[in-house]
Amino acid sequence: MSSSDTITPEALASLLRWYADMGVDMAVDEAPHDRFAEALAGKPSPAAASASDAPTARSLNRDAATAGMSAPRTLSRTRADTQALKPEAASADALAQSAREAAASAQTLEELRARLDAFQGCALKNTATQLVFSDGNPQADIMFVGEAPGADEDRIGRPFVGRAGQLLDKMLASIGLDRTKVYIANVVPWRPPGNRTPTPVETAACLPFTHRQIELADPKILVCVGLPSAQTLLNVTEGIKRARGKWMSYEVAPGRTIPAMAMLHPAYLLRTPADKKLAWQDLRMIAKELAKLG
Ligand code: URA
Repeated sequence: MSSSDTITPEALASLLRWYADMGVDMAVDEAPHDRFAEALAGKPSPAAASASDAPTARSLNRDAATAGMSAPRTLSRTRADTQALKPEAASADALAQSAREAAASAQTLEELRARLDAFQGCALKNTATQLVFSDGNPQADIMFVGEAPGADEDRIGRPFVGRAGQLLDKMLASIGLDRTKVYIANVVPWRPPGNRTPTPVETAACLPFTHRQIELADPKILVCVGLPSAQTLLNVTEGIKRARGKWMSYEVAPGRTIPAMAMLHPAYLLRTPADKKLAWQDLRMIAKELAKLG
């Protein structure tokens, strides 16, 4: 390396800060890969290699999306890329169908976990350390579903074990609950890089598994923790402050609905402790509903 190529510690620190801002907060390999160059040279990305129907253009866009960037504007589409774009909708449908079939064929939560672990249809799997499936008691009357694992959950493999999870435990304790009395999962079971909100495409890819997980756990009450969960499972369209604290219904299986509620996410409450009073009102409503079950 010539002296003009020398990277100063300041430049290196600035590069690391930029990576962190872009959501790149872990190394997944020893050396960096230029996925755009590899894809243009005809080499499939690791995920495309494992999902044989993934077209080149999609892997390019997916890799860019995973890194939090848009695909470079200078990238000219090859004819093969352009052709590959056309069957995109068809392959998205095929993926959704395969997710529905895999989820529906699971007869137990353990089978569902194994099928989800083998599922290649959500790009988040490529950057996450491991699947974060559930915690607590699958026989519990009440199920809490959050958004997606964070760094601590990704490392440990259980939902809600970081700071937000510790607050959730305190909130549960305030109404006499603990993890032996609740079942906990997330709408997306792999950590999004940099803890960003999962995209609608990522959430949709996992949704058949989430619905089946709720169906197999068969709770009597469902609580969506935070807005992304409430949007996904309860079709909430307003903000969480409006949607929280009222009973809605969730169809666990055809013709079988249960009471469901959205509540403020403990990560939000850590940032906005003044709103803990609202969370307390929601917890009281949940405690009352549980008491009705006897
Ligand atoms: N936030 C979530 O929504 N889920 C977790 O598992 C952890 C934090």
